[in-house]
Amino acid sequence: MLTPENLQKVEALFKRYPTKKAVMLSALWIAQEQEGWISEEMMRYIGDLLEVPYATVLGVVTFYTMYNDKKIGKYHIEVCTNVSCMLRGSGKILDTVEKHCGVKLGETSDDGKFTVSEVECMGACGGAPMLAIGEEYYENLTPEKTEQLLSRLK
Ligand code: FES
Repeated sequence: MLTPENLQKVEALFKRYPTKKAVMLSALWIAQEQEGWISEEMMRYIGDLLEVPYATVLGVVTFYTMYNDKKIGKYHIEVCTNVSCMLRGSGKILDTVEKHCGVKLGETSDDGKFTVSEVECMGACGGAPMLAIGEEYYENLTPEKTEQLLSRLK
């Protein structure tokens, strides 16, 4: 369920779009900012709010990698492994991240600190290889730079 404040934000968007369904991406983003992820309960709630079936909401959440359909760690580390990053060594970056965090791709560390994901091109190919932690991008990485970056995360 959205907080009253976030519900107001979604309702304000209804005035700017031709249909309630068109508010879907924004509503889901607001829900994720509130909870850190989007539970089945939240998807059903958003479906009711936007007057669309749960299956439609589920389809959107599972299609876009920017939405988390599972609880994630304090730090969500998204490593780009698409062509530019792959050609410039993203495999070693991913190995470094997995080793440092003690988890494999798609997993969350037992202490809830790290979730490691693989993502497609994040539009930062000029700085390949790169990863994102939350909304911050880290580019031109080497295994050493990656290790230093991860060591700074408390
Ligand atoms: S391929 Fe990695 S940011 Fe484009």
